[in-house]
Amino acid sequence: MKIEQAKRIEQIPPYLFAEIDKKKEEMRKKGMDLIDLGIGDPDLPTPKPIIERLKMASEDPKNHRYPSYEGMIEFRTAVAQWFERRFGVTFDPRTEVLTLIGSKEGIAHIPLAFVNPGDYVLVPSPGYPVYRVSTLFAGGIPYFLPLRKENDFLPNFSEIPKEVAEKARLLFINYPNNPTSAIAERSFFEEVVAFARHYRMIVCHDAAYSEVAFDGYRPLSFFEVEGAREVGIEFHSLSKTFNMTGWRIGFAVGHSEIISGLGRVKTNIDSGLFQAIQEAGIEALNHFDTPLPEIIQIYERRRDVMVKGLREIGLKVERPKATFYLWIQVPRGHTSAQFATLLIEQAGIVATPGNGFGEAGEGYIRMAFTVDETRLKEAIERLKRIKF
Ligand SMILES: Cc1ncc(COP(=O)(O)O)c(C=O)c1O
Repeated sequence: MKIEQAKRIEQIPPYLFAEIDKKKEEMRKKGMDLIDLGIGDPDLPTPKPIIERLKMASEDPKNHRYPSYEGMIEFRTAVAQWFERRFGVTFDPRTEVLTLIGSKEGIAHIPLAFVNPGDYVLVPSPGYPVYRVSTLFAGGIPYFLPLRKENDFLPNFSEIPKEVAEKARLLFINYPNNPTSAIAERSFFEEVVAFARHYRMIVCHDAAYSEVAFDGYRPLSFFEVEGAREVGIEFHSLSKTFNMTGWRIGFAVGHSEIISGLGRVKTNIDSGLFQAIQEAGIEALNHFDTPLPEIIQIYERRRDVMVKGLREIGLKVERPKATFYLWIQVPRGHTSAQFATLLIEQAGIVATPGNGFGEAGEGYIRMAFTVDETRLKEAIERLKRIKF
């Protein structure tokens, strides 16, 4: 029998990182020592007290049963209290907070709650690929908002045709931004609120990197601006904040009807998050000041090593105020994919071609400084030896 996949799967755009994955495999087979700066996955361990809490909680038989769909009220309360301490914004843990199996899970499911087939969803390009795919799964049409350097990698709402804006149900934004590492100021969020209110669309702000920020900079929550509560939901993650990517824990806060729409989808798909992990999440949110200074200091040092080294080589890169990504312009005469291939072939350095995040990412590569400083210095030394 020939097994055919659903059109839903077939319509997903080709996997643009396939080429680099193939190259990686090929170079590894040749015995090349690869320095992988391709993946945004913290290399540092989860803080000990969080692990200890998981150990204890995993022994409690009440945690061995199905968790509640919306998350433990104790976890949601810890979220609301953290949010108030961190951003000065209050949410009702019962109706305005939802536990997620990582923020990706919430982002992947939200279009199912609010997008009808044929509706537009406004999606940043370059951007985290899940916005586009989750839109397609719901039968929606992604309309890409280019993030350009000359506009500080913020979308320009005046470029969106009126007929598209009128038919758009969701707007995805993400600051601090993956992959560009750009940040957003209050005035941008105010503009977003005005735009969303005018066209009656839901704003989905992905704040996965809100606690990875440097030099004392504290990213804003979208909810710190007036009117945001009427139009928005914000996705948060414990993944990058506490080095917990493998644990799969995040949450959403926002308008109670948006939260309940997403919750309705989830009750029909998953059965909640292991309560012992939620208890560990409570430990994390209650007992640590975020951003976590020891993590941030390490990232700051790595960032400085990389930015200095890359600039010495003649590559153009901004010094990011947040995220652990460097968004690097490829030298004249190369495409993103060609340059990424050259780096891996000649220096064993894995970077992600920018066009993998959307067409408007062409002309850039992304490097993640989620490997230790010694290896980063080695990466710079290797780069110095190649010609481009
Ligand atoms: C922009 C952005 N949003 C969301 C996520 C998902 O994070 P998690 O599902 O681990 O919370 C990621 C992960 O890389 C990301 O880069």
